[in-house]
Amino acid sequence: MFTSVCIVLLLIGSVICGDENQAKLRLYYDSFDNFTEVPFDEAHNLFSLSWYNESKPTTIFCHGFTGHPYGPAVTAIIKAYLEQGQSNVALLNWDRLAAAVNGQIPATYLNRAVPNAIKVSADFANILLNLSSAGLDLNKMHLVGHSLGAQIVGITGNKVARKGVQLPWITGLDPAGVVFDTKPPHERLNPKSAVYVDVIHSDPNRYGSRRELGTVDFWPNYRNIGPVVQPDLCNHHRCWQYLIDSMKYSGTLLGSHARNFRTWKNFTKPQRLANVLEIGKYYEQVTPGNYYFYTAASSPYGLAENGL
Ligand SMILES: *[C@@H]1O[C@H](CO)[C@@H](O)[C@H](O)[C@H]1NC(C)=O
Ligand SMILES: *[C@@H]1O[C@H](CO)[C@@H](O)[C@H](O)[C@H]1NC(C)=O
Ligand SMILES: *[C@@H]1O[C@H](CO)[C@@H](O)[C@H](O)[C@H]1NC(C)=O
Ligand SMILES: *[C@@H]1O[C@H](CO)[C@@H](O)[C@H](O)[C@H]1NC(C)=O
Repeated sequence: MFTSVCIVLLLIGSVICGDENQAKLRLYYDSFDNFTEVPFDEAHNLFSLSWYNESKPTTIFCHGFTGHPYGPAVTAIIKAYLEQGQSNVALLNWDRLAAAVNGQIPATYLNRAVPNAIKVSADFANILLNLSSAGLDLNKMHLVGHSLGAQIVGITGNKVARKGVQLPWITGLDPAGVVFDTKPPHERLNPKSAVYVDVIHSDPNRYGSRRELGTVDFWPNYRNIGPVVQPDLCNHHRCWQYLIDSMKYSGTLLGSHARNFRTWKNFTKPQRLANVLEIGKYYEQVTPGNYYFYTAASSPYGLAENGL
């Protein structure tokens, strides 16, 4: 009897501990190669680690469909935040759950990655709330997500908000449009997912959403009408390259406000300079809506006022 209970417990234990597929938080110390990875179900142990500096804000990046910890987006973004050195940096690593199985891109996106993403965002919301009672300051939290990851952090923000805590800042990089564009606001990234939601749209014609999803929506080279026309995935990656350039070349990636692109095109230069925001920055007070600008075709992308 006693033995069989133990065996059952052991089995349960190994199922739980051995769940390779669960999402994890990867907490970076001083460099990209120096990190601790905590599975979601052990995330409450976070504060036993020396990772957290409570005097800094915390930036957590979430990758998209087929993303992984050594993919181009994660590598570049995490390194940029580490170099900047202003925040505690972590990755929401859900690579196993985000993978395309047998190369079946559309089918695994719809049937596997999207449902997994929705589950991950619910779990992540619980973890953030749990960690907040353990000392993580949610009022200094910046969530950044690319593509499907942008929808994850958006839904996480919605769920945390429903528990009475609105996160200060969420950045959506080309939020995934397929499936989510037809969902109601509480099931996707929306302007109330955080106090300030900034969205960079670089691929609204293909992988990214065409909708306005944030407090502010930046539309660089709007629908490729600008000087930059790239094939395939290039545009979908361009959004995080802009974000990185906004850290490296501060003050160069500016957008100016207009009701829509046609109005903006028609603006005089003084009208374009009247209401300007920089991408990748937190603003307490903004004119909500759409922001337009042109970029160079390669890094450094920012043209400052010449892009307006
Ligand atoms: C990793 O970071 C920790 C905490 O800052 C530090 O104590 C440790 O020496 C670092 N390890 C390596 C291999 O750099
Ligand atoms: C925590 O961050 C503050 C502000 O950046 C810094 O001055 C301090 O040295 C950091 N503490 C540790 C233990 O790294
Ligand atoms: C919340 O933290 C407690 C311990 O403080 C832990 O037992 C529980 O599993 C955690 N829940 C989640 C969702 O992480
Ligand atoms: C463009 O500007 C002209 C002159 O200011 C104005 O008459 C016209 O209505 C504007 N068109 C649009 C689409 O805003």
